[in-house]
Amino acid sequence: MPTLTAADWQDYALLDSGQGRKLERFGPATLIRPEAQATWQPALPRAQWDAAHAIFTASSQNGGRWQQRQPLPPRWPMAYGALRFWVQASQSRQVGLFPENAAHWDWIAAQVRRAHQPLRVLNLFGYTGLATLMAAQAGAHVTHVDAAKKAVLWARDNQALSGLHDRPIRWVVEDALTYLRREARRGMRYHGIVLDPPAFGRGPGGEVWSFDRLFGELCNGCRAVLADEARFIVATVYTQGVAPASLAAALADIVRGQAGPVESGELATRERSAGRLLRNAIYARWQAL
Ligand SMILES: C[S@@+](CC[C@H](N)C(=O)[O-])C[C@H]1O[C@@H](n2cnc3c(N)ncnc32)[C@H](O)[C@@H]1O
Repeated sequence: MPTLTAADWQDYALLDSGQGRKLERFGPATLIRPEAQATWQPALPRAQWDAAHAIFTASSQNGGRWQQRQPLPPRWPMAYGALRFWVQASQSRQVGLFPENAAHWDWIAAQVRRAHQPLRVLNLFGYTGLATLMAAQAGAHVTHVDAAKKAVLWARDNQALSGLHDRPIRWVVEDALTYLRREARRGMRYHGIVLDPPAFGRGPGGEVWSFDRLFGELCNGCRAVLADEARFIVATVYTQGVAPASLAAALADIVRGQAGPVESGELATRERSAGRLLRNAIYARWQAL
């Protein structure tokens, strides 16, 4: 089973981990966040952890708060290749990017570039838009859907920061499944689909998203909007208990009848200090032959 690590980061590093936490560098700032897998001991000296700019302490599965130890701006820019985006450590433990997803960003850009026409790409649960912007930068027409207006505004700020104002991106604040069903009814078809569904979520109208209950329906919707000449699908899942092989089988159903391999495995990050591998998520992806 492949384990993908995002190897091309300059601005991000997992510096160390241990005692249920991880020490990461986001551009000029070092942050400490909870990491349940890090049951081992940190490899770096305590002084290096103590010098972190901010630490997030969890109070529940998603809740908690940031405590600044050194002054941090409200937000600061980071880069990945030609992409520019804002990072912030103030609201939740999520700071505006999932660095391990960079392994997919390059793959998505490669799929878009190797097509002979501008692809229509649908990004569901798009968050701050980094996959959207990578696809757009490579030449795709992208529809980006997220339930949170705040996430979409952040994504638009990232678009501006990356100098991609002129790219054809449709920003949609809506429940992903509701939007997908509407696109299917309207006869819209997409050549590429990016899925990053959380375990739970809510649409702007209070619609409940539950991975366990609704992922099958999401896949049916994706099948309905997939173009005959589709090029790729990539799904990333952080929900515990989902096996890469199950996700691969779900993707195989979506692309049934179209040629090309489905690959599945894990996204992981290698720590700088002792080389230990932290598993972040599972993924499956299909590309047309
Ligand atoms: C990037 S996804 C998943 C993040 C991460 N992969 C994880 O599972 O923790 C999170 C995004 O999904 C969005 N979201 C949650 N529920 C949604 C829904 N019903 N429809 C569309 N977007 C939703 C959130 O606003 C957020 O930006």
